[in-house]
Amino acid sequence: MSEQESVKERMRRGDMTVSNREVLEAYAIDPQYDPYSIPLEQVDPAHPALFEHDTLWPHFERLRKEDPVHYTEDSMFGPYWSVTRYKDIMYVDTHHKIFSSQERLGGIALGGPPPEETDEQYRLPMFIQEDPPKHDEQRKVVAPMFTPRNLAELEPLIRERAGHILDNLPRNEEFNWVRAVSVELTGQMLATLFDVPQEDRMKLIHWSDTVSNIGNPDYFETPEQGFMELFQCLAYFQEYYEARKKEEPEFNLISMLAHDPHTNNMTPQELLGNVLLLIVGGNDTTRNSISAGVLALNNNPDQYQKLMQNPGLIPKMVPEIVRWQSPVAHMARTALEDTEIGGKKIKKGDRVAMWYISGNRDETQIENPNQFIIDRPNPRQHVSFGFGVHRCVGNRLAEMQLNVIWQEIMKRFPKVEVVGDPVYLQSSFIHGIRELPVIIRD
Ligand code: HEM
Repeated sequence: MSEQESVKERMRRGDMTVSNREVLEAYAIDPQYDPYSIPLEQVDPAHPALFEHDTLWPHFERLRKEDPVHYTEDSMFGPYWSVTRYKDIMYVDTHHKIFSSQERLGGIALGGPPPEETDEQYRLPMFIQEDPPKHDEQRKVVAPMFTPRNLAELEPLIRERAGHILDNLPRNEEFNWVRAVSVELTGQMLATLFDVPQEDRMKLIHWSDTVSNIGNPDYFETPEQGFMELFQCLAYFQEYYEARKKEEPEFNLISMLAHDPHTNNMTPQELLGNVLLLIVGGNDTTRNSISAGVLALNNNPDQYQKLMQNPGLIPKMVPEIVRWQSPVAHMARTALEDTEIGGKKIKKGDRVAMWYISGNRDETQIENPNQFIIDRPNPRQHVSFGFGVHRCVGNRLAEMQLNVIWQEIMKRFPKVEVVGDPVYLQSSFIHGIRELPVIIRD
């Protein structure tokens, strides 16, 4: 067996001590390659390098046109189907009896070893990786946090914090918008939802970043090292979980989990899984939408101009930003039976990725999908929040945070000017921006 195969083999076996760098080397590609230059069957849109270098777009364009339900046999994530058109994505997402989210079958993200081969301590059951009825029972426990009524109560606090963050930004000097604004606002929000001290928000952000970067050699030599950080997250929340059980129920996520019969007896792995779901769900996605808005407006000066002339467009612009960025690039499922999508035969057990990032650029469904237009007639027509039983439970909170931050930005600054290239996340799951250098001039 060659050196490369052995790294691949170890990865497939779920060996958490395999080197992240060696895995990337074993599957190295030139991220700039033209997808039209290779045989169709070799197109592998899940390769993280395409996302890190922002060269993913023509890969999906080709698939939507030539092979909208596409099979990739050999990839870093094993064999998988790509569903790239809006309507097919909606079909898969709304048929959970055929396409399962179950963690033990492979869960909701491409990658990771088969769960049966994974050491118990590295498995993360969570309600997004369950099917009904367990999924529905656990989702109901936290859903009250995200009702319009509760969000209306939270809004003044978010507005005050947004104002405070923006008022303290440097003027006439370059800084990283992602850290200074996007991460700060969403980190403070998370600490509020969990009711943990605001000083601890950097820990939450660190654990969220750990999940997004667990396979990235710039962060961790091996996935095992990333898990060591996540076990600290477990220790932190286990203390809160046990303490909240002994107190009267309160309106925060940990207390809700601690008191409901469907979630008050979770294993450590399940507690960690559900906490990470809420951390990553509430943090990375909204954070990346906040950063993406600044970038999209800078790349489309006519739209920035339109916004300056009419800040009343913000409620229409917010869903357009969420479509444009598609902060969750894909969600995966496992076929529970032999079935068909768009005429292609999918076998029981096959892994299927719904590429929201591609559905949002589907030219047969969305007019001028490759243009960022802040006053689209129908801006909510996008797949970024998914559909069906797993549709994002925090979508209204995300939109509210985005509305508030943009209203407060427009009250204060004539322009947030991007002055360098963005640095993208090396991930084909979370479509994210790590760094965005900007200047705000007086
Ligand atoms: C722009 C921001 C956001 C985007 C794009 C986004 C996207 C998504 C997507 C695509 C799903 C899966 C949908 C499916 O499988 O059909 C999801 C589920 C979820 N999201 Fe969000 N999300 C965002 C913000 C939030 C926020 C602020 C929270 C709050 C904590 C949150 C919590 C969750 C949870 C808990 C689930 C699992 C729902 C379930 O399985 O029933 N998300 N989100």
